[in-house]
Formats: sequence, C-alpha cells, structure tokens
Amino acid sequence: MKPLITPLLVLVSILCWAQESDLPNDFLSKTFYRERREKLREKLPAHSVAVFFANPVRNRSNDVDFVYHQDPDFYYLTGYKEPDALLLVFKDQQISANGTTYNEVIFVQPRNELREMWTGRRLGEKGVKENLGFSQAFNNSVFKKYNIDFSKFASILFFDFKNDVRDNPRDSSDLFNLIAQFKTKVNYPDAGHPTLTVEPKKNNLDISGLEPIMDNLRGIKTNEEIELVRKAVRISCAGQVEVMKAIKPGMSEREIQGIHEFVFKKYQAEDVGYPSIVGAGHNGCILHYEENYKPSISNKELILMDLGAEYRGYTADITRTIPVNGKFSPEQKQIYELVLKAQEEAMKICKPGTSFQEVYLATRTVINKGLKELGILQNETDRHMYYPHGCTHHIGLDVHDRGPYEKLQEGMMITIEPGIYIPENSPCDKKWWGIAVRIEDDYLITQDGYEHLSAAAPRTVKDVEAMMKQPSALDDFVLPELDKKN
Ligand code: GLY
Ligand code: MN
Ligand code: MN
Repeated sequence: MKPLITPLLVLVSILCWAQESDLPNDFLSKTFYRERREKLREKLPAHSVAVFFANPVRNRSNDVDFVYHQDPDFYYLTGYKEPDALLLVFKDQQISANGTTYNEVIFVQPRNELREMWTGRRLGEKGVKENLGFSQAFNNSVFKKYNIDFSKFASILFFDFKNDVRDNPRDSSDLFNLIAQFKTKVNYPDAGHPTLTVEPKKNNLDISGLEPIMDNLRGIKTNEEIELVRKAVRISCAGQVEVMKAIKPGMSEREIQGIHEFVFKKYQAEDVGYPSIVGAGHNGCILHYEENYKPSISNKELILMDLGAEYRGYTADITRTIPVNGKFSPEQKQIYELVLKAQEEAMKICKPGTSFQEVYLATRTVINKGLKELGILQNETDRHMYYPHGCTHHIGLDVHDRGPYEKLQEGMMITIEPGIYIPENSPCDKKWWGIAVRIEDDYLITQDGYEHLSAAAPRTVKDVEAMMKQPSALDDFVLPELDKKN
C-alpha cells in the first residue's frame, strides 16, 4: 500500500488546486457576511453571546448521505457551506490570553487531503480566514479545550438542537461532539445526551431570544441579496417559459420537471429551493405533490407547476398552471381567472404598512365570492377545502424564509399565491372535479408599493395561450426508443 500514498497525495493536491479556479465568482463577498455579523451584534442584548451550529449531515442510507445543505442562519452570517462548524458572535470585545481582542470566532472542519478526495474541497481555518473574513478561525477539534467562561455572559443565545445529529465514531469533532462539548461548557441540563432537547434551566441560557433577532435581520433584504433573488426568479421564469413552449399531451410529469430543472442548471443555479411540484389533473390538488410520477399527461388536463431555482443560496418560488393542450376549457378558464383576480386584488394593497393577514383576506374575499357565484361554495365566509392554505410568505435563503409576519416593510421579498383546488368527489358539479389552479409570484416591497419580480412568466389566459403557441427548441429533441432487450 505504502508506495501508493505519495502519488495519491500529489493527485489530491492537483485536484484541489484545479477546483479552486472552477468556482462561480458571484457568491456574496466576505464584506457582506462581516456586515451581517455586525448587524447581528448591534441587535444582541447587553453582554451576550450568540451561538450557531452548522446543519447536521443527514444519512440517506448505508454509506450515502443526502446532499449537504448549510443551515441558512449559519450561511447568512458566514458564507460557510461545510458541516461540523460552530460560530460564536460576542456582543462585547473579548481579550485572549496573549492580549488579542476579538468579537467573533468560528470553528470549522479541518483540511484533510485524503478525505477531500472522497467528499470534496474544504476551506479549513486558513481558507476561512482568507475567503470569509474571520480573524479568529480554528479547527473544530480546538473547541474542546477552547478557554471560554460561558458563565460570565448575561445571556447565551442559541437555537434548540436538532434531533437528527449523528455521531461519526471516527470523528471526535463532528457536530455531535461539538454540541456535547458546548453543553458541557455551559452546564446544560442534559449534557450527557448531546442531541436530546431539554428546556434549559440555567439563568443565562436563552433558546428563544435569537429567533426574533434573526427574523428581523433576514426579513429585510440587502441590495446584494435582492440581486441574487432577482437572478433566481429570472431563471425560474425562464423554466416556466420553456415548458410552456415545449409541453405536449403524452409527456410525463417527470419530463416536465426535467425541462424546468435543466433550464435552472443551464443558468448555473446550484439547486432547487424546494422539491419541485409538477402535478397534472387531480394531482394538482395535492398541495405539496412531489412524486411527479404520472407517465403520460392527458390532453384535457391542467398542469400545476410550482418550482424555484436556488441561486447562490437564494430561492425563487413561482407557480404557473397551464392547459396541457395549450387552450383552457371554459371551466378551467373560469377557475383560473378567479385565482388571477384574487392575486391582483392582493397586489393592489401590497405596500409597506399592509399586514400579511390583509393580503390573505384580499385573496380569500375574491375566491369565496367567486366560488359562491359559480355554485361551488354555499357560503362566502369560511376557510374551506378549496383554498386551504395561506397566500404570502417571505422568500430568501429559505423558500419559507425567516422574517416578521406582521406588516409589509420596504426591502421584504414575498410571494402572493392564491389557489383553488377541487378534488374528485367534491360536493359540487362534477364538471369542476380535478381542476386545480395556483398562481404564485414573487415581489419586492418598495417604498410605496411593490416590484413584480416574476412578471416574465406569462400569467393571464391570453399570454399563457400565446406563449404555448411558440416553437420550442425541444420540438426536435426526440430520444430513440430504449432497446427493450436490455
Ligand atoms: N413551494 C411552496 C410554496 O409555495 O409555499
Ligand atoms: Mn410559496
Ligand atoms: Mn410555491
């Protein structure tokens, strides 16, 4: 075995070097992350420390893990995309034994050339200092002996622990161990059970104070964040447009999903912001339908497509519902136009000072009145099965992003997404059964109103039908039949 090691290390060094220059160059800068930590520090209570853990690695099965995704709060404050990390943000300057002053420190997974050959590049403490702008960065193994007296802080703010953190017995500084070490340092009541949740009893432990602070920070987007959401939205609109041009009866739900996600990747989106929802006919009535398994979509069906590209961590959230054959039937059109009217009524009041509840009520009033007029609903006032969800949420690093949910404010980025879903056997005329329509758009709240970010994806009946007549580059893309013998 031995002679293999040196060539292997050379190969790994070459691989790591090559990958450095292969990264996109429009991730947010270290200045952005430093400013976010500064803003957090301003909002922290006197003499406190805020503690953030990276997301756990989640196992899919055996030796395959789910694709890793950083915890959005951790990412928002650091730009760090790797697991097994811990961030401390201090309200006040700290002084180390050698006289250095600092007000934040990060512990990250160490470089390890052999591990990197299996699981990818790591920044390590040096990379974190250079790329993410930390002056105090250490390998996570240092945390165990890191000299910090947590009892001196007036409050220690942290989020409750996730309950699916696994121990990797070969790694004594994985997240499981970091949490255990933190619990020991703060005399947490269940320090012996690193991933169990027990309400902290110590006076300076606070698991509820960080949430409103992070909500208020992340709920108002900076200009840099707005640009990334705009990009995610533009890419997601392009996906909707290409599908409108390409869709034909007989295609599968999965194929439609594939066209959207191909467009996302073509424009360099790294991921989807949430599992894509592509439901034809009555599958559209399942609000978070993620199976997308229907092998052949039928001529007369609507298809509901709720997809968002994730671009540099930020996600869009857009739904279009279109007739598979390019023309809405009279019943489909009536329901579609009712949903559209509900969305437009909500848009009319969309400005700073309007409450989230008022936006929802604007859609509900239109939908209930319209459904009553169509004879689908007996009574106008109830929340009911045909419109069972809310209609507005923040978007950002999470599709349902953090943010305060009282009144709209300038700089918020939100959706408005009314819908009507009429499953088979609903207590109304059969002609409505199987019709499901959601129209979802993304907005930036401005000083005196809003900017409609997703207007590039056709939305009116006329515009959708016109776009569906356009030729598609995929019209000529026909794969040969698979050889049945193999
Ligand atoms: N895509 C999930 C939602 O619209 O909220
Ligand atoms: Mn949404
Ligand atoms: Mn959605």
